[in-house]
Amino acid sequence: ETGCFTYDPGFTSTASCDSAITYIDGEVGILMHRGYMIEDLAEHSDFMDVCYLLLHGELPKADQKTEFERSITYHTMLHEQMNYFYRGFRRDSHPMAIMVGVVGAMSAFYHDSTDISDPRQRMIASHRLIAKMPTIAAMAYKFSIGQPFVYPRNDLNYAENFLNMIFSVPCEEYKISPVLARAMDRIFILHADHEQNASTSTVRISGSSNANPFACIAAGIASLWGPAHGGANEAVLQMLQEIGTKDRIPEFIERAKDRDDPFRLMGFGHRVYKNYDPRAKVMQKSCHEVLAELGVKDPLLDVAMELERIALEDEYFAEKKLFPNVDFYSGIILKAMGFPTSMFTVLFALARTVGWVAQWREMIEDPKQRISRPRQLYNGHTKRDYVALGDR
Ligand code: SDX
Repeated sequence: ETGCFTYDPGFTSTASCDSAITYIDGEVGILMHRGYMIEDLAEHSDFMDVCYLLLHGELPKADQKTEFERSITYHTMLHEQMNYFYRGFRRDSHPMAIMVGVVGAMSAFYHDSTDISDPRQRMIASHRLIAKMPTIAAMAYKFSIGQPFVYPRNDLNYAENFLNMIFSVPCEEYKISPVLARAMDRIFILHADHEQNASTSTVRISGSSNANPFACIAAGIASLWGPAHGGANEAVLQMLQEIGTKDRIPEFIERAKDRDDPFRLMGFGHRVYKNYDPRAKVMQKSCHEVLAELGVKDPLLDVAMELERIALEDEYFAEKKLFPNVDFYSGIILKAMGFPTSMFTVLFALARTVGWVAQWREMIEDPKQRISRPRQLYNGHTKRDYVALGDR
């Protein structure tokens, strides 16, 4: 089973493209990357393994992994001139606004890797994006809290480097917890790619016009920001804080069922999964590990667990096939790790960059590739005569 769908222009299918990267079976709750189950990758691989797999189609051998990891590590620094770019933002700018701006501006600083017809430049741009995203994200965070930027270090792995750039300060040694670094790495794996979701489709459509890769990834970041998509992890925390205590859960469950009430249970439901999102199960396990490691008793987790229990027993949600998705637990873990809610979607964008890049390259390197040009079902006026201003 390859899980490929072929788009047949002759018939209105929801399939938008061929792809060999990620396969989802929403009915059963299966997610595979290049044939490997997400549960196995989350258990046995690290994020660099998964990045190599998504980009090259195979898990790396030891020497390939060493070389790939080195090429990423030695591209983590940002062009020094971009520091001034950050200083143009207000301190209270949402970090996603900074991400969209800074990533879009990368084509102005790295124009030697914007010629998409050159395979070498495509590879360099891909590595630069994957390597620099943690630095860009960490700088957005440091800028928002008025702390100095922390440079990446070549003696740390991808997740450790990110945690160090986020939480360390020049005044003292920052001790990286191996459990937090492993949890961070696993969160990156679980968010790496997810077939043709809204932001990935945005990247593909942008890339189909041969726009440079930095501009395409900036478009993907913009799309991911929405609370119906990647912004849901931030919205889950806001919802749990609004619910506040377990005894108020039934009130919100009823609101979620009321078609006239715009309230939606954040972190529940999915356009494709009509069963448990396999990532949510791994995330739930990781959530308990992180909270135990940190000795955090988060009352919001208690509310989250009770909300999940009640929702899963409720026949409305069963009938609508609404299950917790990846965002339901990620917000709680990230809050426990010390991230502000404004950074949750930034972390999602950081992790999803490899998926966007892999899907962009698959599209660009397809010899059949043409500019994307969706059509419409026109339901406006039929032809009518012009009316002069004086006669309107
Ligand atoms: C992500 O596409 C991806 O792969 C995305 C993602 C990825 O990795 O890229 O998986 C990441 O975006 C996960 C989703 C995060 N969003 C949220 O958690 C926000 C809350 N969820 C909802 O907004 C909603 O479930 C969506 C947007 C995710 C999906 O909406 P759909 O496509 O309308 O869902 P559906 O067709 O399955 O809905 C069926 C019914 C509808 O009611 P009816 O029209 O049949 O009466 O269930 C209702 C929906 O209104 N419904 C909900 C609900 N989600 C759907 N009702 C209450 N609460 C909810 N959360």
